[in-house]
Amino acid sequence: MPILSQQSKIQQTNEESVMRRKIVVGNWKMNGSLASNEALLKALVEKIPQKISTDIVICAPYPYLFQTQSYLKNSSIRWGAQNVAKFESGAFTGEVSVSMLKEFGASYVIIGHSERSTAYCESDENIATKLMMVKQADMTPILCVGESLIEREAGIMEKVVSKQLDTIVEMYGEDIFDETIIAYEPVWAIGSDMAASPEQAQTMHQFIREKLSPNAKVGKSLKIIYGGSVNPQNALQLFSMPDVDGGLVGRASLNASDFQSICHSAEI
Ligand code: PGA
Repeated sequence: MPILSQQSKIQQTNEESVMRRKIVVGNWKMNGSLASNEALLKALVEKIPQKISTDIVICAPYPYLFQTQSYLKNSSIRWGAQNVAKFESGAFTGEVSVSMLKEFGASYVIIGHSERSTAYCESDENIATKLMMVKQADMTPILCVGESLIEREAGIMEKVVSKQLDTIVEMYGEDIFDETIIAYEPVWAIGSDMAASPEQAQTMHQFIREKLSPNAKVGKSLKIIYGGSVNPQNALQLFSMPDVDGGLVGRASLNASDFQSICHSAEI
């Protein structure tokens, strides 16, 4: 691409990114206890100002949703879950429904995290159904997509991510991505201390945006956040990329100072 049109493209993307409010989501995974959560939630409420230009979300384990709600309800921080059932109710032992999450004030649900798809063989079809359930319940899904290391090394990462999105589009149409947050989480970067470089993240985010944003309903407002070893040292660079609208943060969300610092990096 000629340098001038490349520059105008970046400038155009920059202008578009201005319209999108950033979001930082803490994914506690299967960590915590009543005592440690209390300390963490209290510290977060104290550190994160009431008026902040970034959306901040904590996705806690199910049993701690009530506790999370109690501490966060009068703060600027929202909360959500890390998974949900694909059925509304009934004989599904061990599952938790969208209506149960709503009773605890959850407004976000992480869908299709690679730790779940790998450990519990969750299919793209299942993920698509869950996404629809969350949308119908008026909560915001945070849909995880991303490639494995082997797929990246083979240079097929865009193909892989494309397929993950295509299954959803085939089942429910592109409009489903309106008000859906997409989290690009390269599997090799999760829990590894090997975050994607800002350029690698930007390239994939731009690819996803170019794939979905021509749809009139989805448009330029589609939020695409990055996840995988985000920490206080790399957050600012990652969040400065024009198509990176924030982060999905695992380990660093378990430390109030680190998480606050990452949230602060989104305030740019
Ligand atoms: P990590 O996890 O920040 O610990 O790499 C991210 C995630 O899996 O959401």
